[in-house]
Amino acid sequence: GAVGKDGYRHYMEKELHEHPLVIGQTLQRMIDPATRKVVLPDMPVDLATVPRAAITACGSAFYAGVVGRYWLEEIARLPVDIDVASEMRYRNPPLTPGSLGILISQSGETADTLAAMRSLKQAGLPILSILNAEHSSMARESDVVLGTVAGPEISVASTKAFTAQLTVLACLTIAIARARGTLDALGEEELVTALLDLPSKAAEVFTHGDAIRKMATIVAEARDVLYLGRGSGYPVAMEGALKLKEISYIHAEAYAAGEMKHGPISLIDRTVPIVATVPSGVLFDKTLSNLQEARARGGRLLAFTDDEGAERVSAIAEQTIVLPKVHPFVTPLIQTIGVQILAYETALLKGTDVDQPRNLAKSVTVE
Ligand code: G6P
Repeated sequence: GAVGKDGYRHYMEKELHEHPLVIGQTLQRMIDPATRKVVLPDMPVDLATVPRAAITACGSAFYAGVVGRYWLEEIARLPVDIDVASEMRYRNPPLTPGSLGILISQSGETADTLAAMRSLKQAGLPILSILNAEHSSMARESDVVLGTVAGPEISVASTKAFTAQLTVLACLTIAIARARGTLDALGEEELVTALLDLPSKAAEVFTHGDAIRKMATIVAEARDVLYLGRGSGYPVAMEGALKLKEISYIHAEAYAAGEMKHGPISLIDRTVPIVATVPSGVLFDKTLSNLQEARARGGRLLAFTDDEGAERVSAIAEQTIVLPKVHPFVTPLIQTIGVQILAYETALLKGTDVDQPRNLAKSVTVE
């Protein structure tokens, strides 16, 4: 039957609040509770020897894929090519025989992604799809489907489907790393524990609603916003910027924090707020020094960090949201929820049509 808003003002607000549930449901599907091991269906390639993966998707699903690339390369040592579907489809890349094609889509119907998938198939690649709509065109044409258990997503701007995609990609990374011998049993236990810890930590993000609303008052006044992050925080910055553009119509651009000095630093002044994702971890110091450079040029710094980074970030940022500290592997999921809520709160202040932003469609079935 029809999906209601359950007392929320918008589907997007409701779907944001479903993050903890959806992450938990997706983990239930992928992790055996008895053994605490990731369990995959039969794969169309031998995960131990697959030489490469080619990931393609559009929109938010593409950014989930970029996080997936960081994980697969770092943890499973699997080389990954990634491109948006509309480019992958036409640039005729040389694909390594025996590689695995990975498609990511909420709807399973996006025309560009479907076409890119067919071109990968034509090149002889077996296809693994990460889909929310398990009865879709992509599902029918894939060799194997890993479902995101996000339920129907009505809001045009993706929220819970994105974190569910990250959850599946995290589990896939663990399974591939195990098969390739880059992750031992102890390592797997550590990463699985980090994942199982997520639903409760994701729920904690919503206790910061007031602080994020306050941050939104600054963002809502801006014409342009710069999003910065490093490592797996870079695609989180891209997702944050996309969400802001989609629903508040404020121009936003995401940059790898270390690359800022090669261009966008010339834009920085009081009128261009900087939204930074800077969780504790190996790249914390590097990111913080990039942010200091921005601040020294008069930039207004709005930061998302965690308990461990709080003191040093709040020393330089105008506003700091202290999200729960989680294992560095899973920080992209927690940070994403923060930037998605910021986009939502900003759109409310702008008075835009949050669930049905102008010119956008939930599922784009034309090229
Ligand atoms: C549209 C939506 C985006 C979405 C993209 C990919 O452009 O506005 O929010 O991320 O399609 O959709 P898919 O269903 O393939 O994940």
